[in-house]
Amino acid sequence: MHLNLIFFALEFSFLLFFCMLVVIALIILSCQIMIIIKMLLPGRRNRNQESTADDVPPGSRGLPLIGETIQFVAAINSSKGFYDFVQTRCLRYGNCFKTNIFGQTHVFFSSTETAKLLLKNDSGKFTKRYLRSIAQLVGDQSLLCASPDHHKLIRHRLNNLFTTKSLSLFIKQFDELTITTLSDWDQDGGTVVVLKEALKITFKAMCKMLMSFESGEEVEMMEKDVADVCKAMLAFPLKLPWTRFYKGLQARKRIMKTLEKIITLRRSGLDACNEDFLQYLVTEDKEDSANETLRLTDTEIQDNILTMIIAGQDTTASAITWMVKYLSENQEVLDAVKIEQLKLAEQLTSTKSSFLTLQDLNNMPYASKVVKESLRMASVVAWFPRLVLQDCEIEGYKIKKGWNVNIVARSIHFDPMVYNDPNKFNPSRFDDYDSKPYSFLAFGMGGRTCLGLNMAKAMMLVFLHRLITTYKWKVIDSDSSVEKRAMFSRLKSGCPIHVTRIPPEDVKSA
Ligand code: HEM
Repeated sequence: MHLNLIFFALEFSFLLFFCMLVVIALIILSCQIMIIIKMLLPGRRNRNQESTADDVPPGSRGLPLIGETIQFVAAINSSKGFYDFVQTRCLRYGNCFKTNIFGQTHVFFSSTETAKLLLKNDSGKFTKRYLRSIAQLVGDQSLLCASPDHHKLIRHRLNNLFTTKSLSLFIKQFDELTITTLSDWDQDGGTVVVLKEALKITFKAMCKMLMSFESGEEVEMMEKDVADVCKAMLAFPLKLPWTRFYKGLQARKRIMKTLEKIITLRRSGLDACNEDFLQYLVTEDKEDSANETLRLTDTEIQDNILTMIIAGQDTTASAITWMVKYLSENQEVLDAVKIEQLKLAEQLTSTKSSFLTLQDLNNMPYASKVVKESLRMASVVAWFPRLVLQDCEIEGYKIKKGWNVNIVARSIHFDPMVYNDPNKFNPSRFDDYDSKPYSFLAFGMGGRTCLGLNMAKAMMLVFLHRLITTYKWKVIDSDSSVEKRAMFSRLKSGCPIHVTRIPPEDVKSA
């Protein structure tokens, strides 16, 4: 009898537990069905319809705990990329929507007014924030991850490096590198992958400018290591020997060791004849030795040299690749830019100038517009994340301290209210363009504007000039898919082209 009671109690509690499980499963299922129905409902809703009583931005918080992380990661892992995640929700909720990714609330905005508010940040209510895993890879002394005050100090120091004098020297070095790289192309059976070539040139250019690091095994090793650090940036931060994240951290360690060695050599005065960024930082350090707070430590220098290589190499190489693709799809634009560049090539030959100068680049009005239009359409850095430091109101919505707010540069670049016929590659749109403030965000705006924007534009112009005046070329894979899991928007195909060298005597008629 006693045993029977125990069995009955056990059976009853098992039944109760089973019923509870069924009820929980049903609740989760119905929530998911509601979310799916909501997602499938046709039509774009406007802001007023969707905003709730407490004026929280519209959007779906997704599943408990994980929110919409799966959808976000799926977009990054697809050939449509991050923008697909944003675009789907913009169509559903309008230009502002809220979601939950990796357990954090994110609000996305796509208006120039909000871009000004967040990026100019007069109110001081926002700060830049990267994922912790990115800080581990670029280093917590990097200006990308530094606290606002620390950021000001490092930015001031680095800003001094981007003078007209260093830009002029950089243009010559970059041109030399481009000429050398392009001269090898013929040996490759006439086919090259633009992204691969551009990554090679931009990496070498960055290393030369920063620390006169030019060729050899160490440079090749570092190039591979930097690529591994970049690959790890969007990887799941799991430190196990076979993970991308772990490999990225190991690559960072090796890069830091090499940089440490170079800095020690410079400080010892044994390798002081270089005119590069590192020499400037080390020398300034000495001059400021009386003022400890102004000096950059070795770790700060190391983290920021790595930051500049990462910020400058991949972005510029991707932009160059997109530019070649857009030109190949727009014959009229290509013809117009050819006329300008071939005329300049003739002038260079007549003045016996071997390399392009800053003045030459200033004499490329049409190519400069081609560069700008390529940057608009490619939107290599598609969105800018900021952390909210104080409760505030944006576009009529209540935004809470601790939330992440993001400006989607790409949406602004493709907004028909901002750019007429935005899907058309039309450099002439910048002819007498009365630009709306905060409408061109390829390099960001405000206190975190890209430090290397002039160098980036110069690299694109030099590459364009040398490609057009050295080769006749044709894109052989027109696929527009973007690379999976890339930090910056990169063409998956890398843009392979078939090239035929233009004989020097034919440059005029090419
Ligand atoms: C086409 C090429 C490039 C593009 C599209 C680009 C784009 C950007 C953007 C959009 C930002 C601001 C991000 C934000 O506000 O959240 C930025 C920041 C930055 N960029 Fe670039 N960049 C390019 C090339 C370069 C180059 C060549 C360098 C270095 C030589 C460089 C160094 C930096 C640095 C150091 C920052 C951080 C500034 C700060 O946080 O204060 N970039 N870049």
